[in-house]
Amino acid sequence: MSPAARIQAFYDTDTSTVTHVVSDPETQRAAVIDSVLDYDPKSGRTSKTSADRVITHVRAAGLQVDWHLETHAHADHLSAAPYLQRELGGRIAIGAHIRQVQTAFQRIFNAADMDTEGRDFDQLFDDGAQFTIGRLQARVMHTPGHTPACLTYVIGDDAFVGDTLFMPDYGSARCDFPGGDARTLFRSIQAVLALPPATRLHLCHDYPPASRGPTWVTTVAEQRAHNVHVHDGVSEDEFVALRQARDKTLGMPTLLLPAIQINARAGHFPPPEANGVSYLKIPLNLL
Ligand SMILES: [Fe+2]
Repeated sequence: MSPAARIQAFYDTDTSTVTHVVSDPETQRAAVIDSVLDYDPKSGRTSKTSADRVITHVRAAGLQVDWHLETHAHADHLSAAPYLQRELGGRIAIGAHIRQVQTAFQRIFNAADMDTEGRDFDQLFDDGAQFTIGRLQARVMHTPGHTPACLTYVIGDDAFVGDTLFMPDYGSARCDFPGGDARTLFRSIQAVLALPPATRLHLCHDYPPASRGPTWVTTVAEQRAHNVHVHDGVSEDEFVALRQARDKTLGMPTLLLPAIQINARAGHFPPPEANGVSYLKIPLNLL
């Protein structure tokens, strides 16, 4: 049986993203899940304030990072995994279906340099893959729907669910990005909700209402009882109808176009042009 993980979370207020540092208290081996590289869309400047908070914590706690785990190719923030890897070591991993995501966006951005075989990542995980963080046993669940490549990482009684579920009062993730599918997400959520009821679910985002502050840990039992989109008793067809209706009302995330071009390259910038500057593309009238 896997011992209990130690978990430190960092909430980025700009993108409402939660980065988790998961470590084995005995060996001090660690994984960083869903890191954030700060990005100002007005100036095109990146900065490392959020990532440096993680580095400060890792060094102060004496942790050795083995993994930079992405739950999926995010559309709302840039990944800091390559920067953290340079500073801390470790391997960058994502779901094997990232190839599908890369293929879709290589076409959309007409980005000849974008690899579609996942080679920018150090490790691609299939459904059911297992790996270790020190003595912690981690198991990979492929939980597509929000994107085709979404993963949930199960480590003992803790599951890092990415963008499948949000807090019970907010519901579930949108399914209208390329390759997203509400019916698929419902089935993935059912697989997550089939974990033991006391399993702690750690979210990738929280969008709190005015009545509460940001929070990102809930349980299978709480979700089954209270999730506004998928509590027990909601049928697949009911969920699909609700999800599709809601997705029609949602605008494009502010950082989708920059984020996906970076994150489909495992957080690396596009190759610099002759003047040494990396550029992002904006497809006009395509999306
Ligand atoms: Fe996402």
